[in-house]
Amino acid sequence: MSKSQKFSCRLYNFIFRDKLPSLKNKFFRFLVYHCLFNFNKILLMKMAGAKLTFNTQIGRSNLFVAPGNIEIGDDVFIGRNNLFQSRDKIIIGKHVNISGYSFFLTGSHDVRSSDFKSIYAPIKIGDYVWIGTNCTILPGVTIGDGAVIGAGSVVTKDIPSYKIAVGSPAKPIADRMKNLNYKIC
Ligand SMILES: CC(C)(COP(=O)(O)OP(=O)(O)OC[C@H]1O[C@@H](n2cnc3c(N)ncnc32)[C@H](O)[C@@H]1OP(=O)(O)O)[C@@H](O)C(=O)NCCC(=O)NCCS
Repeated sequence: MSKSQKFSCRLYNFIFRDKLPSLKNKFFRFLVYHCLFNFNKILLMKMAGAKLTFNTQIGRSNLFVAPGNIEIGDDVFIGRNNLFQSRDKIIIGKHVNISGYSFFLTGSHDVRSSDFKSIYAPIKIGDYVWIGTNCTILPGVTIGDGAVIGAGSVVTKDIPSYKIAVGSPAKPIADRMKNLNYKIC
């Protein structure tokens, strides 16, 4: 990350994660978050190196570790309080709904090594994916187009396209229709 990207990233996390959530007045909070600052959040994310469009909605208190490793397609909703630990790439497709309170982890440790070696692998999320609340997506996982991840799931392996997967570890329990055609934002 360049110095200016690092600065933009810190500024983003300082304003949108640490400071603004403490605003007490509900109306002001709504105005600030939804009307004024979504644009600025995206601008700062872009300045910090992320690839995303202005047709993205980012809820409050999300933490992006290295925005330069993040690519988000058009028309994506990101709810509140997610951690995007983007030490490696996190690539999100179009029309994706990330409900909130989830962890996207691209880093881990080799627990079989003597030196607790760090390991990194990218996360890929296809178009029209819905990730329910409170999920953990582990390094190296690909979630195929149109898949749904049920609330509270831990995704340890790839989930094929158009599957509804739940649990820890997340396993497909049903199919989703393939002719998906909707907008999220
Ligand atoms: C994944 C989900 C969409 C499945 O909905 P559904 O197709 O209606 O599934 P059902 O309720 O018929 O459940 C089917 C089975 O999966 C189980 N199941 C459903 N969701 C589960 C979950 N998140 N974790 C573990 N098991 C789950 C049910 O217990 C049921 O098991 P059974 O057949 O042994 O009784 C839904 O359960 C879910 O998790 N939604 C996310 C909600 C959310 O995060 N909202 C955020 C705000 S928008």
